[in-house]
This record gives sequence, structure tokens and C-alpha cells, in this order.
Amino acid sequence: MKKILIIGGTGMLRKVSEYFIEANHEVTIIARNLSRLEHLKNKYKEKEDSIQIISADYANEILFLESIHSLLKSNDFDIALLWIHSFADSCKNQLIEILYHKNSLIQIYDVKGSAYYHPQSLLKYNDKCYSIYLGYQKENDTSRWLTHNEISAGTIYAITHELKEYIIGQVSPWEERP
Ligand SMILES: NC(=O)c1ccc[n+]([C@@H]2O[C@H](COP(=O)([O-])OP(=O)(O)OC[C@H]3O[C@@H](n4cnc5c(N)ncnc54)[C@H](OP(=O)(O)O)[C@@H]3O)[C@@H](O)[C@H]2O)c1
Repeated sequence: MKKILIIGGTGMLRKVSEYFIEANHEVTIIARNLSRLEHLKNKYKEKEDSIQIISADYANEILFLESIHSLLKSNDFDIALLWIHSFADSCKNQLIEILYHKNSLIQIYDVKGSAYYHPQSLLKYNDKCYSIYLGYQKENDTSRWLTHNEISAGTIYAITHELKEYIIGQVSPWEERP
């Protein structure tokens, strides 16, 4: 049984949250919308002791990091999964440092949009993390973005196989993105 923290686990990664809950891990999910968080938790009434939900907004860096500090007073995590929009990179990098400070052995999986993979990208990435890149899918002569199911399945695969770097779909050729 692992202790898993998921930031942004109620949207496209909801099935990842559900996968780890159903596999009897202790799962803490953070997002803003409390009713969506409660909806997810209520689906697993028999496992409610192993599910923790926290409403916090990473756009408010100070308050968000305060809630992380108070969470870590009584919790240790083996795995953290981060789906944090790039506008909050500063908050994400501080979060990563805080999590490592608490447990140097934590595995942090950072889900990134394909823009992070572009060779000329100015977006910085943190090489302490395991990286999961969201690519696109080619279908016949066209390409499309990933579905939520594909994103969740790929993320579960990367975490359960402890992959340092994993691309869901494909990121090249860059010019063939949808
Ligand atoms: N390459 C690709 O295929 C690719 C790449 C990137 C994105 N996408 C697509 O883009 C769509 C939009 O992305 P999205 O991020 O809106 O997806 P999402 O996963 O549906 O929502 C983001 C998740 O993070 C939480 N969240 C958002 N802002 C937050 C904040 N400020 N503080 C704390 N938690 C926050 C959300 O819950 P709350 O709203 O309750 O906070 C939710 O759990 C997705 O549906 C995905 O399919 C595709």
C-alpha cells in the first residue's frame, strides 16, 4: 500500500485517481472544486478512510503552499502526481522541493503538455521528476489530441512501470500536431 498525492486528479486524470483508490492505496487528491472532489470520494464509501480530498488553488501560491505544509505535518507520500498548468511553474517547483525535503525517496511524476517537449521550448522542467509528456495521436491522415482515457491509461502505465520519461502518444513530428 502506497501513499499517493495527486494534484489535479478530478479532471482528465480522474481515472488515475480511481485506479489507485481501487488498488487499495491511500490517495490524497487536490483540486479547487470541492463538489467534484466529494463526488469522487463518495463513489468509494467503503474506502473513505483511505481517501483524502483537499480543496486548494495553486494560482494562489502562498495559500496553496501553506496547505501543502500543513498536509505534510501529518502525511508522508511515496508518490506524487502533478498536473499543474504552466502558469504556476514557480508554485510547482516550490512544491517539488517541499515534497523532496519531506521524503527524499518520493517519486514525483510531472505531467506536461507537448510544448515542454519542443526542442526550443523555454519552459523549464525539473529533472528530479519523472516526466509524462502528453502528445497527440495520428489517425489515418490526420492527427488529434489525446482522449482523457488515453491520458489516464498512459499515466497509470508510466507510474506502475516507474518510467523516468514517458510520452503518451507522440510528440514528433512537431509540425503534425493537431
Ligand atoms: N497533448 C494533449 O493531448 C493535451 C495536453 C494538455 C491538455 N489536454 C487537454 O486539455 C484539456 C484541458 O486541460 P485541463 O487542465 O482543464 O484538464 P483537466 O484535467 O480536466 O482539469 C485540470 C485538473 O486540475 C484541477 N485544477 C485546475 N486548475 C487548478 C488550480 N488552479 N488549482 C488546483 N487545481 C486545479 C482541476 O480541478 P478544479 O477545476 O476543481 O480545480 C482538475 O482536477 C484536457 O481535457 C485535456 O484533454 C490535452
